[in-house]
Amino acid sequence: MYFNNAATTWPKPEVVYRAVDECFRSLNSPERTVSDEGERSAALMADCRRTIADFFSIRDPKRLIFTPSATYSLNLAILGLDWREGDGILMSGLEHHAVSRPIRKVAREHGVTFTCIPYAADNPIDLNFVEDQLKSGHVKLLASTMASNVTGDILPSRELGELAERYGALYLVDAAQSAGVLPVDVDDLKADMLAFAGHKGLFGPPGGGGLFVRKGIQLETLAEGGTGKDSGRHEMSGRYPSNYEVGTHNLLAVVGMTAGIDWLNQTGIDNLRGHEQKLTERFLRGLNDLPGVTVFGTADVKNRTSVVSLTMDGVTPGKMAQWLAEHHNVSSRAGFHCAPLAHETIGTLPGDGTIRFSFGFSNTLEEVEQLLGFLAEMPRLEGQLDWVV
Ligand SMILES: Cc1ncc(COP(=O)(O)O)c(C=O)c1O
Repeated sequence: MYFNNAATTWPKPEVVYRAVDECFRSLNSPERTVSDEGERSAALMADCRRTIADFFSIRDPKRLIFTPSATYSLNLAILGLDWREGDGILMSGLEHHAVSRPIRKVAREHGVTFTCIPYAADNPIDLNFVEDQLKSGHVKLLASTMASNVTGDILPSRELGELAERYGALYLVDAAQSAGVLPVDVDDLKADMLAFAGHKGLFGPPGGGGLFVRKGIQLETLAEGGTGKDSGRHEMSGRYPSNYEVGTHNLLAVVGMTAGIDWLNQTGIDNLRGHEQKLTERFLRGLNDLPGVTVFGTADVKNRTSVVSLTMDGVTPGKMAQWLAEHHNVSSRAGFHCAPLAHETIGTLPGDGTIRFSFGFSNTLEEVEQLLGFLAEMPRLEGQLDWVV
């Protein structure tokens, strides 16, 4: 039973496997090749860029940069800005390393300060605090995930975008946990930059992601090299998106995420969300009946994704995950989920973090009920899990 869809979705819809396989066999030729195949690759890449841009309501597909991952996109967005000593950054208390580590790097290297927005279980972002900070005028960047990969909380991203716009700060959205899970519209969010991963809610293979950058923002490059365009010049062109897409494109990752988006558009995000909400609601209700269980994040399924983090008295998250894997073939993820900031925020660091379950389209209510049964049997007394290293 696979309950780690927040890390990467699995299985993928059948059409994704087929699209990637077909592309790999018939079109693995870079767009730069002078041949029929090269032209078809270039046309396919342009089609995919349009489909993906439409999915996020990005009006000009040139403002969509393909990257190897959400991590790379977020690094490009944060490290690529023109930082000055005294600039400030505001971020949620739930950020992933992919946001918080590059922020710490610019703080270290450029004399920039950063502040975390206070969190409460039913109010993951204190909007009054955000407004007060923005009013001070020193905040250059407001960075926030749309949904936490630890608690599943959905953050008030649109309200953050309105505040950032009102006070003239740049707004960076991490949509790694929301793309394909919730509607994501860059205009509606008033996002200046938005990063996503191809292999999570968009059902593509690993190795693909993207970054939207609003017109008027010129980022520094993270890597330089050949783009297949302006080949006779020694320097990079500065043009979007090729300035940031150096080296041979990962056409397979792009084709895979596009097939995932086509499937999402046909299936309907709302239908998928409805299914995942049913599973999450059943799981949360079942957890209520188990003694010594603490669940993190809001209990309201309307304000959360299908990511559920918990702890159990008497057994560490790591041992729980190992016992579930070894005895019941259950996949979960334990520890800090690359987000120690989020764990500090919810009080599980210092400590052992949480065990996290995240449901996807192929999970069923029966599986969730089985999982609840396994958790009820979890050996919790000292010594009962001595076999676990
Ligand atoms: C909230 C969040 N941001 C960023 C990332 C990084 O995504 P990727 O591993 O695709 O780079 C993840 C991955 O787990 C995530 O959950």
